[in-house]
Amino acid sequence: MPYYRRVGEVPHKRHTQFRTPDGGLYAEELMGVEGFSSDSSLLYHRHIPTGITAAEAVEREPDPLVPNHPLKPRHLRTHALKTGGDIVDARQLLMANDDVRLSYVAADETSPLYRNAIGDEVVYVESGTGLMESVYGAIDVGPGDYVVIPTSTTHRWVVTSPDPLRVMVIEATGHVAPPNRYLSPRGQFLEHAPYCERDLRGPAEPLLVDDTDTDVLVRHRAGLTRYTYAHHPFDVVGWDGHLYPYVFNIADFEPITGRIHQPPPVHQTFEGPKFVVCSFVPRKFDYHPEGIPAPYNHANVDSDEMIFYVGGDFMSRKGAGIELGSISLHPSGFTHGPQPGSVEASIGKEATDELAVMVDTFRPLHLGPAALDSEDADYAWTWARGRPDTTFGSA
Ligand SMILES: [Fe+2]
Repeated sequence: MPYYRRVGEVPHKRHTQFRTPDGGLYAEELMGVEGFSSDSSLLYHRHIPTGITAAEAVEREPDPLVPNHPLKPRHLRTHALKTGGDIVDARQLLMANDDVRLSYVAADETSPLYRNAIGDEVVYVESGTGLMESVYGAIDVGPGDYVVIPTSTTHRWVVTSPDPLRVMVIEATGHVAPPNRYLSPRGQFLEHAPYCERDLRGPAEPLLVDDTDTDVLVRHRAGLTRYTYAHHPFDVVGWDGHLYPYVFNIADFEPITGRIHQPPPVHQTFEGPKFVVCSFVPRKFDYHPEGIPAPYNHANVDSDEMIFYVGGDFMSRKGAGIELGSISLHPSGFTHGPQPGSVEASIGKEATDELAVMVDTFRPLHLGPAALDSEDADYAWTWARGRPDTTFGSA
């Protein structure tokens, strides 16, 4: 996160005495990634951030994963999955590999305090509203928000809408950031980037909770550990730096279009270790007089391609199978493309109002229980047997 931010009170000089109203010292914490060699923030706590009174292993059966074998394109219907629970505990695992895990939650409860010590999390909000509360402060979230939560940020999710907060959770095994090619050598968004600093929302004020004996669930390589802290971790009176949770709304992604069909990298929004995230947003189609707006068939030789359909005109195409909340998985080793009739149908179309989130992984995705529970088993045969539709505007 390349953008300096300052919230609440911090002393003029780092690592100097910063006193509480009663004369004590605030406890300074540096939270930094890649040792001391990359982005960091300095936080000032009312209590020492190290004060744990208990640590207990939380035993939970790992979600079973099965290989995509026989190798097939898949269609999942997330809205067929169960509703309820919270964004931390009720994750329904769709697919995963050693680099990234993709889960779906329709949350109606507040989550426990939680942090992921393995990697950053990106939570895409499909619908509903909530609050992402953290040691850095709170951020309101709503439909279309990508919420980027740095590794080891203590936070929790509060649902504020009467309807469930429907999200896809992307768990990385490292750090997620805007693509390097969008950034100057010093981290400023360049003119050709489809979004910039003004489009990002961060915490605006400290979030202070005065409490004791507070549990925090920590996800780490060996499993889950529940710490009990002597004091509530939301005790930061101020912080500054370049490392903090932030939100980018998909509606602020400015699409890059051309005379002929543009390839998926123009839609790239974030990159993580061995995966990318792309946003397909409403946009004008290609304007070459003989252009074909539909994508060409393509073999993604080195990536599995997951698309989460979150809004737009694909819903109106009957017989497609793809609907709001659908996910398609087009794996490496399988050539995919538009449905029969879609190429012809796309000619002359001027725009699309589709909205979709794509995660391309560089290693194959295995299927989790939520994929098996929500799969449309006929999808693989739709190109050959009909069911014309579907995604001529997308990747
Ligand atoms: Fe594709």
